[in-house]
Amino acid sequence: TKQKLWGGRFTGKTDPLMHEFNQSLRYDKRMYAADIQGSIAYSKALTLTGILTKDEESKIVAGLTTVLGEWKNGTFEIKEDDEDIHTANERRLSELIGPLGGKLHTGRSRNDQVATDMRLWLLGEINNVVDGLKGLIRVMVERADKEKDILLPGYTHLQRGQPIRWSHLLLSHAFSFHADLQRLQQIIPRVSVLPLGCGALAGNPFVVDREFLAKELGFQSVAENSLYGVGDRDFIVEFMMWASLAMTHVSRMAEDLVIYSTAEFGFVTLSDAYSTGSSIMPQKKNPDSLELLRGKSGRVFGNMAGFLMTLKGLPSTYNKDLQEDKEPLFDAYDTVSASFKIAEGVIATMEVHADKMFQALTMDVLATDLADYLVRKGIPFRETHHISGRAVALAESRKCQLNELTFQDYQGLSDKFSEDIHDIFNFEASVERRESIGGTSRKMVERQISVLRSALN
Ligand code: ARG
Repeated sequence: TKQKLWGGRFTGKTDPLMHEFNQSLRYDKRMYAADIQGSIAYSKALTLTGILTKDEESKIVAGLTTVLGEWKNGTFEIKEDDEDIHTANERRLSELIGPLGGKLHTGRSRNDQVATDMRLWLLGEINNVVDGLKGLIRVMVERADKEKDILLPGYTHLQRGQPIRWSHLLLSHAFSFHADLQRLQQIIPRVSVLPLGCGALAGNPFVVDREFLAKELGFQSVAENSLYGVGDRDFIVEFMMWASLAMTHVSRMAEDLVIYSTAEFGFVTLSDAYSTGSSIMPQKKNPDSLELLRGKSGRVFGNMAGFLMTLKGLPSTYNKDLQEDKEPLFDAYDTVSASFKIAEGVIATMEVHADKMFQALTMDVLATDLADYLVRKGIPFRETHHISGRAVALAESRKCQLNELTFQDYQGLSDKFSEDIHDIFNFEASVERRESIGGTSRKMVERQISVLRSALN
């Protein structure tokens, strides 16, 4: 007859709906490798305490290795009573090696086990996220390097502000991702804290060597308090907070590109590979990839907020509420990983229309440069701002551009204007004047590219 792992004190049967409600294997099976890795290390630690003989340890390790193989090649058979990945693996181990399998859980609880599995799983996946993020940044940097000649208006309030290089804009987003890369790497030491050996809550009575366990599993440190070890899920919150911020950056970049891909702007055209059509309007080519990138940021933020809500009222140590850590974490991880890949593809394949960008550069975006011209002639900026503003107003009333006002017009506004005024009406020159660190001049864009390239190596 089938028996639940914890069935000893029970006489009644679990309600079928409760059975299903309780089961987490459906989603926590993706941690099978971490679970088995943790168990192999634990069996070695048990041998060191004398609970297992070397021979028993070998049999357990061989059995666990077989179970791992079954998961890997898709032959692991899930049974009705497999509650979660921990019970499933232990059940299968005992089928393979007999009652000896029952020794593995000595001094261990699913409480320290699950916390260990989650941390181990996340540490492994963070490496993939780092790679995905680097891939995205790399594509942005390469594109920026090739397209340094392209100018467009830079916007504030979505109103044309000053001319900038297109690569400067692209790199601005890359620097947000660069900070995300640093933040992600800074999370690692707090994920890399070993709970195994904390037992159910009070600690391990067989005095397993937790520093040995940490070394075996590649953890940087050991949870110093067993109640903390089994009850802490801050590392999950922290990853989801990280993912929320990274997705905010993805979303803001996507929003720029959604706007730029409209016919009204026409700055970029997404490749067909990242666009979709309309079921009724034959002419449509919609930037669905970008809209999904923008939309999915809400989903990741929701995972984080939802799980914080789950955590906030919990009493100390393990409570079953904590099983609700998995779906949001996995979903946040999947979403952020896919988003980096899609964003990378969008950026790599979109067409950039330098002509349209240049056409959007109207002379009024040089009004700051006009004011700066007078500053160089000795007038305080507050006054030059006003004079330049009057030039803008005059051009507006004449329905002409700033460079179409006559020299006499300019002289009427200030006698400091001389014949060289017309040198101001040059977008490239405006951009090249921004040559302090961080500016949009070619040299400073090249500097940004080299900063990012060295961060990627
Ligand atoms: N499936 C459980 C979870 O994900 C494992 C820990 C169960 N512990 C317990 N005391 N019931 O949290």
